[in-house]
Amino acid sequence: MRVLTGIQPSGDLHIGNYFGSIKQMVEAQGNSETFAFIANYHAMTSGGKDLSKLTMQCATDFLALGIDPDKSTFWIQSDVKEVLELYWTLSSFTPMGLLERAHSFKDKTAKGIPANHSLFSYPVLMAADILLFGSEIVPVGKDQIQHVEIARDIATKFNNQYGDILTMPEFKVQEEVQTVPGIDGQKMSKSYGNIVNIFGEEKKQLKTIKKIVTENVAMEEPKEFETCNVYNMAKLFLEGENLIALQDRYKAGGEGHGHFKVYLAEVMWEYFKEYREKREYFENNQDEVREILKLGAKRATEVAMPTIEKIRTATGLNY
Ligand code: ADP
Ligand code: TRP
Repeated sequence: MRVLTGIQPSGDLHIGNYFGSIKQMVEAQGNSETFAFIANYHAMTSGGKDLSKLTMQCATDFLALGIDPDKSTFWIQSDVKEVLELYWTLSSFTPMGLLERAHSFKDKTAKGIPANHSLFSYPVLMAADILLFGSEIVPVGKDQIQHVEIARDIATKFNNQYGDILTMPEFKVQEEVQTVPGIDGQKMSKSYGNIVNIFGEEKKQLKTIKKIVTENVAMEEPKEFETCNVYNMAKLFLEGENLIALQDRYKAGGEGHGHFKVYLAEVMWEYFKEYREKREYFENNQDEVREILKLGAKRATEVAMPTIEKIRTATGLNY
């Protein structure tokens, strides 16, 4: 089974990225043919600020979090230029209405990101990312389901005209994760400024966690946990007895949300400890990271070429 995911280098990686996507990818390694890339062209759609620095930072984070270049093909999107060629080819199989219905464009422009053409056509580039490598499974957060569906629609249109060239991808959402809330309770996203990042400084992390929006309930009163943003983040790091124990603390009353926030900061810090150590290694060996990425791009290109050749022949670009 071929599994593929991409992530935008548009800011610090956050716990939504980790639980919504990276963790699934790491777990799939070894059992599937895994492909992971840093979507730097995608990051340009929402400004591309500090792109070069964030690309390396994101790659370093990925390696620290367990993407293993011996088990996965791992590269930077712009190092396999064929994706832009496919993007253009697929654009001719993308009805305007399909893009006009995309939630992500509406959500992002509503948040003040300028409505430029690349933001609008971004699902087509994402379809190219997916289809170029014959991906069968795309692990994503709930917000990206529609984009995988768009890729399927485009692939169907293309295949109807040219035969069975493109592999039909399926999305895979980790049911218990779905959408991780941000500190304001909306979807956690780098572009919304509401994230809890994975690799922050300990004091800053706590400061961010303290800003999580919670209900106003008196200290002694029992508290709802299902709807609490702090609980909904903490549950990502807890299992079994520890999770039940936290629920009991909510139900018992006598503690404020501030106590739960401190607890969340602690469990999170502990959870990522080993990854922080790995990160330090890669941070100090950036040339090794670049080497890994170069090799990854070479491998990704080798996988892409047979498909791109078939497409060139089918569409008449080969002459
Ligand atoms: P962001 O919205 O922060 O810019 P990306 O769009 O780069 O994040 O998303 C990278 C991956 O992480 C995608 O698979 C996406 O679905 C997943 N993801 C992002 N935010 C969340 C979230 N809040 N909850 C669950 N998954 C998420
Ligand atoms: N659009 C995705 C996001 O913002 C990132 C991405 C780009 C991606 N290309 C992809 C994810 C291909 C999966 C497959 O989250």
